[in-house]
Amino acid sequence: MININEIEKAAEKIRKAKYGIAFTGAGISVESGIPPFRGENGLWNKYDPIFLEIEYFRKKPLQSWKKIKEIFYDNLIKAEPNKAHIVLAKMCKRELIESVITQNIDNLHQKAGSKYVYELHGTYKQLVCTECSSEYDISFADLNFLPPTCYICKGILKPDMVFFNEPIPLFAKNRSFAEAKKCDLFLIIGTDAEVFPANSIPIAAKETGATIIEINIKESHFTNTITDIFLKGKATEVMTKLGELLYLD
Ligand code: APR
Repeated sequence: MININEIEKAAEKIRKAKYGIAFTGAGISVESGIPPFRGENGLWNKYDPIFLEIEYFRKKPLQSWKKIKEIFYDNLIKAEPNKAHIVLAKMCKRELIESVITQNIDNLHQKAGSKYVYELHGTYKQLVCTECSSEYDISFADLNFLPPTCYICKGILKPDMVFFNEPIPLFAKNRSFAEAKKCDLFLIIGTDAEVFPANSIPIAAKETGATIIEINIKESHFTNTITDIFLKGKATEVMTKLGELLYLD
């Protein structure tokens, strides 16, 4: 049950903020049918994440691609934004939220209409050649033939998502920290805050003095450390209520 006093407090903070930003994790996409990585139904409970480790991918691209296609591509291609993505996009349109920093690779914020989205862990929508660095939209690849190869040099194509033991994209990292240091309101939606350096971005916002509002179905590592207002509930339910309180049509 959503705590109405807390959510009205949160709506007021969002309304009055000078520069609000959002930070999202897998939890915002669970209600679009995309399983989270940890917790109930978490992918890492079922699969060994080794297939997403960069050295493993380089040594065994076919085995890695078979798992990547099964777990990500077969799922993400048909996923649609849910009410939480849609309300967040409306907040962006109304400039209540200036940008979205996401750990997700599912492109659902963009599909919902959010304009300034910084993808810390890359995207499934793009493939990159491991030899010549040519880039392709996923629509150019036929994933019935794995591993996909580059039309130019025949090199193996890799999803443009950050694998374990790979650095996060410099542009997304720099922009995200810059946004966190500029904001006075920071809305965290659906993350366990387990993964570095992504999990240091909300801390940077807190150190700047931003008000931290967190939406999650259960407490995370942030809840009893940096969170000022904890809205316990499913992202779609809480965001729908916030949308009503902020008169987003
Ligand atoms: N509404 C809100 N929160 C939810 C919902 C929901 N319907 N369902 C789950 N959650 C919360 C969980 O309680 C958990 O805190 O979403 C969070 C999901 O945590 P993770 O699966 O760890 O996802 P995330 O924090 O985004 O993981 C970060 O880890 O494996 C890497 O690269 C991967 O980007 C990922 C990173």
